[in-house]
Formats: sequence, C-alpha cells, structure tokens
Amino acid sequence: MLTLGIESSCDETAAAVIEDGWRVRSSVVASQVDLHAEYRGVVPELAGREHVEKILPVVRSALREAGVTIADLGLIAVGHRPGLIGCLLVGLTAAKALALATGLPLVGVDHVHAHLYAPLLEVPAPDRPAFPALGLVVSGGHTSIYRVEAPVRVDRLGATIDDAIGEAFDKAATLLGLPFPGGPNLDRLASEDGANDRAFEFPISRIDPRSLDFSFSGLKTATMLAVRGDPQGGAAPRAASELSASQRRDIAASFQRAAVQAVILKLARAHERHPDARSLLVGGGVSANSRMRSELVSFARTHGLDLRLPPIRFCVDNGAMIAGLGHHLHESGLTHDLTLEPVPTTSC
Ligand code: KG4
Ligand code: ZN
Repeated sequence: MLTLGIESSCDETAAAVIEDGWRVRSSVVASQVDLHAEYRGVVPELAGREHVEKILPVVRSALREAGVTIADLGLIAVGHRPGLIGCLLVGLTAAKALALATGLPLVGVDHVHAHLYAPLLEVPAPDRPAFPALGLVVSGGHTSIYRVEAPVRVDRLGATIDDAIGEAFDKAATLLGLPFPGGPNLDRLASEDGANDRAFEFPISRIDPRSLDFSFSGLKTATMLAVRGDPQGGAAPRAASELSASQRRDIAASFQRAAVQAVILKLARAHERHPDARSLLVGGGVSANSRMRSELVSFARTHGLDLRLPPIRFCVDNGAMIAGLGHHLHESGLTHDLTLEPVPTTSC
C-alpha cells in the first residue's frame, strides 16, 4: 500500500511516498529559507506563491525517487491544517486535483499530529513503542504536550499560551544578530566551547503550576534585555554587534537552557498525571536541537519512558510524516471528499 503525502503548511513544499505507513520510499523537501532570509521570517504571500511554483515538481520528484507512478499509489494524504491559509490551499488543491484525476481516496491530516508520527517512520511493527504514550511537539508554530493512545488517537494536555518555542528560538537568534533560520544557528552558538549556560538566569515560566501550558514571551523579553544591557544616563541600548563573542555564546546557551528546562518541567508534570505512559514521542523542528535531545534522553531514562526521537530530517516539516499518519487514519476508516477545506488551527 503506497501513500503519497503532501505538505505545504508553511515554508517547505514537501512530498513523500510511504509504503505500508512506515517505510519511506522517498521524501522530497523544497525549502524556502533563502526566499525569506532577508525578511528574517516567513512572508505568507511569498510562501504561497513559491508553493505554487514548486508543488508539482516536488510531487514528481517524490514519485520518481520512489520508483513509482501515480497508478501505483493507493492513497493521497495531505496536511490541511494548521498553517498559513494561502500555503495550505496550494498543497490541498494539488492533492484534491490528483485524487479527482485518479479516483484515489483522499485523507486530510493535522500537521501537528503528524509531527508526533515522525518518530515512528522507518520503524517496523515489532519495534513500535508501547502505548499509551506522552507526546511532545516543539516546532516553529506549536509547543504542545499530548496523551497518545495510538497514532490516530491523541488528546492535547497543554500548549503554549503565547509564542511557540521555535518562534522564541528564532527571535532570540535575531536579537543576537544570527542569520535566519535562527534556531539551528543559535544551537550551534550555544554549543561552542566555553559557552556558559548559567551566565544569565533567564525566567522559566511559572504560569499556573497545575496547568500543562507553556509561555515563552517572558523568556524572549529577558533575552532582549540581556542583549541590550543596562544603558546608563540616556545612552542607547547595546546593539547585538557590540556584544563580545563570549557574551553572545553565554546569552545563547542561557536562553537554550531556560527554553529546554521549561519543556522538561511540564513533561515531568504530565508524567505525574499520566503514570501509565510507557513511551515518549517527540516531533517538530526544535526536536532537532542538540540540548533538547540530550535533556530528553536523560528525562526519559529517569522516568522509565521509551523515548522516540525522529532522525533530524524528519524533525522539520516533511511529507513523510503526513503520508505515514494519513495511512493509519485511512486504515481506521477516515476518507475525505473534495469539499475538504484548509483550516488555520489544529484540530485538538
Ligand atoms: O516543525 P518545523 O519545521 O515547522 C513548524 O511546523 O513550525 O519547525 C521549524 C522550527 C523553526 O523555528 C526552527 O528555527 C526550529 O524549528 N529549529 C530549531 C533547530 N532546528 C530547527 N530550533 C532550535 N535548534 C535547532 N537545532
Ligand atoms: Zn511543522
């Protein structure tokens, strides 16, 4: 059973062919990083137009790399929520057109839930993690914790009330004068020799201790104040270019420690409430972060959880996770017709 997965929710045009819901036959991602770099953020209108240019070549490459034709496919899966509406429309319209032309079934997939499926790609049935599991999505648009009964049955336990963690990484990187996309560049700076992650005691949000929600706006502000310094006598705030190399490293490392700790704290709380969880599934761009990965490894070890982290190429947006989850949704009886709409928000 071959599934074509299509993803266009933000600034990556992606398509993949997956066999039996887990074996990745091809995964093609056209990134728009260069297009948005000069704006230091994704410009929705430019992103949508670029998807229009790229969507068919990317789908064709995915089919070619998998060594198949459309006639070999059994299902078309598409990320139809959440995301930038003009971007979602492009992938969804392509998927609907292909479904209409071929008669193949169509299934719409929630992009955030698909991130939770990324660690299950390339994992054959006997090596699957045990459920229930805790799920963590840390991406540019979302920061959420889930209880996962099965890949197709997820309940959100908490989410960010303001910025997503990836957004905070990108903003902190911009404040430090690092090029877009900030997250990976900040990760590299914080990992340099001599970086002191205790140089700044950045705040770890303490919103309602009973809640599993996150907040990253305070950390962002604290990072801005650390960069600006404490200007005296009406002097202008310090610019990033005036920071010494060690100050930049220290701010990056201290920011990263606080951001990752905020996640680990809430995960510990989620585990207290869901002690029957056997595994921890993680996805989203920030799961590529080196410190996030190492802290998750020790957290899972301490709490006796079977940690499943995606390989780096499946942390960021891709079509394989869409196809994989789409396969299971379809197996569980879900099919959409051509009235399927793009939706800017996640389903739960
Ligand atoms: O999952 P993703 O590709 O897109 C969304 O669904 O949002 O995540 C992109 C985010 C960006 O904010 C990017 O800076 C961040 O993931 N990211 C990282 C790293 N690699 C990607 N953040 C921190 N450290 C990294 N190594
Ligand atoms: Zn994503």
